[in-house]
Amino acid sequence: MRRGILSLLATGALVASGTAACTANVSGTGGHGGKPRIGVILPDSKSSARWETADRKYLAAAFKAAGVDYEIQNAQNDKSAFTTLAEQMITQGVDVLMIVNLDSGTGKAVLDKARNAGVATIDYDRLTLGGSARYYVSFDNTAVGTLQGQGLVRCLADAKINRPVVAELNGSQTDNNSTLFKEGYDNVLQPKFDSGEYVKGPDQWIEEWDNTRAGTAFEQMMTAQPNIGGVIAANDGLANAAINVLKKQGLNGHIPVTGQDATAQGLQNILNGDQCMTVYKDVRREAAAAAKLAIALAKGETGVTTTKVYDRVGKRDVDAILLDPKAITRDNVRAVIDDGYVSADEVCTADFAAKCAAAGIK
Ligand code: BGC
Repeated sequence: MRRGILSLLATGALVASGTAACTANVSGTGGHGGKPRIGVILPDSKSSARWETADRKYLAAAFKAAGVDYEIQNAQNDKSAFTTLAEQMITQGVDVLMIVNLDSGTGKAVLDKARNAGVATIDYDRLTLGGSARYYVSFDNTAVGTLQGQGLVRCLADAKINRPVVAELNGSQTDNNSTLFKEGYDNVLQPKFDSGEYVKGPDQWIEEWDNTRAGTAFEQMMTAQPNIGGVIAANDGLANAAINVLKKQGLNGHIPVTGQDATAQGLQNILNGDQCMTVYKDVRREAAAAAKLAIALAKGETGVTTTKVYDRVGKRDVDAILLDPKAITRDNVRAVIDDGYVSADEVCTADFAAKCAAAGIK
């Protein structure tokens, strides 16, 4: 029954008739006799390990604990699959749709469809520019970039690299977060370029956060400017791609590389001395905050937010929750493991046993 009504709703048939059933859905009560239902679309499983290893797990746990119906899908970096998944969720009668967009264009199309069908919407982690999401839940992404910039400055000082040429491997240009990360680290680095303390090096967006493309791009950077002395890599995957190139030239560990996401691989690269730092974003808190909002909306309640984020394309303020990121270096890798975010087993594989012991990780 519920599905029937809601598929009509999605096609617009019931919206036009303006019945009570439609109104109930518009207010997100999750009525129609069924349990509240929430749909989530994750972006891919390659640009970062986090989506499948952390976000899915913690979102599912929160939905289960609240006893709501939920579906979590992964678009695997395919924009048409992303759209199809969203359309299916809307047709099947979700009360709330939560997305991590692949770009703002496809994100907006899906959010608008949901809104027209009376489905409440949440942008998760990535803000859809010009979109219509009711809420946005993420980390303070400019602060993430600031930590990366500051981390690199510290590692360059520790390595005593004089007038380093700094290269930048930015994330995907279609991800608003990449712009914010870059804003954060450029704010730290620009004064150093201006004063001549550092030298501005190659600076490139990596399409789709693709690690293979990042490796190729960094190889070309090293060929064009063999004296690169420091690398801003926007996440641990891009960092690992750069480290692999440095390894071929025996330069790993000599040229500091930043990262983000505190992935097991990133933490291992830090323990090895090949990666200068990573940014730990406790996805458990992000998932819990987003799930709490989604559950409230699905039950027809209003969500509680803590701040507003300005969408410069849509020229509107979006009610938001932004969490604080934390910098991780060799000195505090342990904190991520002690926190239970990544397990010692994942990081301390045979090759890393001694390094883990030295870092106090059990
Ligand atoms: C997320 C990062 C992630 C990147 C690639 C960004 O939007 O905030 O945590 O590493 O996408 O998936």
